[in-house]
Amino acid sequence: MTTPASPSPLASDAAFLESLAAKVGTPFWLYDAGVIRRAINDVKFLTSAPGLQARFAMKACPATRILKEMQQAGIWIDAVSGNEVLRARQAGFSGGSQPPVILYTADVFRDNWWEAVGTHGVLPNIGSPGQLRDLEKAGYRGAIALRVNPGFGHGHVNSCDTGGPSSKHGVWFQDVAEVIVFAKKLGYPIVMIHAHVGSGPQQEELRANLKRLAEEFARIAPQFPNLEAVSLGGGLPHNYRGGAAIDLKALASILTDAHALLCKAVGRPIRLEIEPGRYYVAGSAQLVTRVMDVKKTRDNEKGKGATFAMVDAGFVDLVRPAMYGSYHRISIPARAGQPTEPVVVAGPLCESGDVFTRDSSELLAPRDLPLPHTGDLMVLHDGGAYGYAMSSNYNSIGRVPQIWLESDGSTTLISRRETIEDILKAETDEKL
Ligand SMILES: Cc1ncc(COP(=O)(O)O)c(C=O)c1O
Repeated sequence: MTTPASPSPLASDAAFLESLAAKVGTPFWLYDAGVIRRAINDVKFLTSAPGLQARFAMKACPATRILKEMQQAGIWIDAVSGNEVLRARQAGFSGGSQPPVILYTADVFRDNWWEAVGTHGVLPNIGSPGQLRDLEKAGYRGAIALRVNPGFGHGHVNSCDTGGPSSKHGVWFQDVAEVIVFAKKLGYPIVMIHAHVGSGPQQEELRANLKRLAEEFARIAPQFPNLEAVSLGGGLPHNYRGGAAIDLKALASILTDAHALLCKAVGRPIRLEIEPGRYYVAGSAQLVTRVMDVKKTRDNEKGKGATFAMVDAGFVDLVRPAMYGSYHRISIPARAGQPTEPVVVAGPLCESGDVFTRDSSELLAPRDLPLPHTGDLMVLHDGGAYGYAMSSNYNSIGRVPQIWLESDGSTTLISRRETIEDILKAETDEKL
């Protein structure tokens, strides 16, 4: 890498953010290249031992600019839809399954899935026996990966819990033997076994889960004569509230131990993979929004009054707080260091839940902030993962621009604001 991997001071510079707002309007997303590169370097460190490979779960942030950054760093892709596969292909990742640079992990095949598997030849990672039937019906000839639900796991909220009886993902571990028989009957060699047991758990939990998963996989691996790789999934946490950084050394030794255990279990060298999404990008992007008004409600018999900062960004731009009660750090660069008071930050949408300062029980969680003034820019931090990626056109609002901030301070508009024409483009009057 030619540029230093460190955060840019410009990202918190009020005058700089105003200069960008003058060019593209508000709200907008700003990605800091140095922060992404630092996270990429961390994951490269984790997977630097021979036989280890990192993927990027591109669902977290599929912008082409970011995919290219991953590709230059030698990171492979975990895709979840036909279109994600096509996006990765367009960004320069190779198709085919030797090696499987793009892994296509689908709970259900839909839309253009066959274009991904049939035309681009990417390795399908199946999570139910029905998907084997889908492959057979489509005339697939080739290898497969098998996603397993090992029966345990934990995420940062219940809906990010991806292993256990309540999880829809993968083949339940006790049913794996049946799927092996079925895949053999259909002539599909299983070249990879895979599990992802939770997005964003605490570090200790992640380490315990990874160890346990490696042991489970070592137990079943000998049943797969064609096995070339084991994936322990993603789930590396990002610390949204600041605090201790992830212990990379501890994690790296868990991965090298897991690799040794798995190679021993099958009696030959195989690849060990991880596929973080959030970790690479969460800290890299901030949503910059304008305070359009400040107003108050007052105490009454229903509850306490609050000060509302009404901003022009809403859950169409960053849904995590409304969806999971997720915490995002908030700052007002022009008022840094001023005294704080509890403020609720709310957006323009028609839902009362369009509030960025909520807790996981859907209640308001006013944030201690300097009292904003109408016209201030406000920044919602750490939104690079599942931020723009989960944005929508609800209320017919266009997705906002994304800007790339290079380490030398130069900026590039990597996607423009969506217009009404973009939103109407897919509507037709076609009789069927
Ligand atoms: C199969 C799979 N792999 C990897 C990830 C990435 O998880 P994280 O962003 O927590 O690293 C996910 C997230 O949903 C996933 O479903």
